[in-house]
Amino acid sequence: MTQKTLELVDRASDRKVSLPVRPGTIGPSVVDIAPLNRELGVFTYDPGFGATAACESRITYIDGDAGVLLYRGYPVEQLAEKSTFTEVAYLLLHGELPSRKQIDEFTSSIRHHTMINESLLRFFNGFHYDAHPMAMVSAVVASMSAFYHDTMDIYNPRQREIFAHRIIAKIPTIAAAAHKHALGQPYVYPRNDLDYCSNLLHMLYAVPCEPYEVDPVAAQALDLLFILHADHEQNASTSTVRLAGSTGTNPYAAIAAGISALWGPAHGGANEAVLTMLEQIGTVDNIPKFLSQAKDKTSHVRLMGFGHRVYKNFDPRAKIIREMCHKVLSRLGRSDNPLFELALRLEEIALQDEYFIERKLYPNVDFYSGIIYSAIGIPRSMFTVMFAIARTVGWVAHWQEMIADPAMRIGRPRQIYTGPTRRDYREIGSRA
Ligand code: ACO
Repeated sequence: MTQKTLELVDRASDRKVSLPVRPGTIGPSVVDIAPLNRELGVFTYDPGFGATAACESRITYIDGDAGVLLYRGYPVEQLAEKSTFTEVAYLLLHGELPSRKQIDEFTSSIRHHTMINESLLRFFNGFHYDAHPMAMVSAVVASMSAFYHDTMDIYNPRQREIFAHRIIAKIPTIAAAAHKHALGQPYVYPRNDLDYCSNLLHMLYAVPCEPYEVDPVAAQALDLLFILHADHEQNASTSTVRLAGSTGTNPYAAIAAGISALWGPAHGGANEAVLTMLEQIGTVDNIPKFLSQAKDKTSHVRLMGFGHRVYKNFDPRAKIIREMCHKVLSRLGRSDNPLFELALRLEEIALQDEYFIERKLYPNVDFYSGIIYSAIGIPRSMFTVMFAIARTVGWVAHWQEMIADPAMRIGRPRQIYTGPTRRDYREIGSRA
């Protein structure tokens, strides 16, 4: 089969370069630009990586125009309807849906890695009472590398697997400890008889002085949200994990880097920002005024939970979450939730507005997720932490894929330099 190529001519030097075009299994092909530098001595310029594929991956596929999201080929809608977060975690990590035996072994391994070293738990006491939980979670995850030395050999597949199970099992325990620290309540130990999300709810809400029953509606809603947040190909935090991991750093450090990247309001911090925005808007009457601020480029205000780098159509996850909002709120007896009503009107008005239509700005996964989180009692500062728990699975899958690839190289972008040209040092007395 003849390989497709893209021919480029450099008119300045009259030199030609032939760039191989590589097809994917679905989606756009990519042009291999390596010969550009080798043969013509130029780099490409793509701020924000809007047109650059940084790696080859078999994990997740997104068609942003059609609103399609596939995990290992399976549509997220089918997984949301039929699967569980633990099964989706197995799928993302291993590439195939598990057999009964495989899922039983995987689930058991995750359930038996949930406790964290007591010294690590004591770290929380060092944080100020009002520390943001993302600050605590990223710091404690980074500190795991000081405790679990048996998983530091990144080229040993068994150590990588133990790391994967360990971080996926322990991140809910770390997240819940951050929450308890903020409340000033005692830390609650994990219960290995509970499923992943029920155990998380137990660690977040149980107290030693009275029995706590996990609400199955809340656990189910959380499980679904986690499925939808589990992976999203080369987003900012996953790319951060890959870049940090490409240096050969230990995996806990790479995941901590991802948590930090997720924190920003343009990424995972958006779910927290959406609720703050809805409260600031307050009532339906204030929507037009808010939208005109969001459209005004000098205001720095954005309609949070709207827009996406890849989706130029409905984010399929947003559709599922909006439907789930209705269900969860009515099953929890809170169907008259004023913030949800406001969000629905805001979405409706924005979707009819020329500004948002022209720019193909639609609700993203986070427009409604915060409303569900608050309905099940998760405090706002913990929303992004919830996202981090779910996305840890995706980060680990990508890190594993990268490390196992013999072609892995350190990630090292180039630049166009526009600073001063060479100049000589001037003694301090002769400077202007
Ligand atoms: N509100 C108002 N205007 C917007 C918004 C928004 N939410 N999003 C994009 N725009 C405008 C931009 O100002 C720009 O307008 P212009 O062409 O007149 O200059 C145009 O739409 C294109 O936007 P970009 O910023 O170039 O889009 P980009 O792909 O770089 O950013 C992003 C995507 C960061 C998600 C952006 O849409 C945004 O800030 N949204 C709000 C924050 C948010 O919800 N983030 C969560 C994303 S999903 C996730 O990470 C889980």
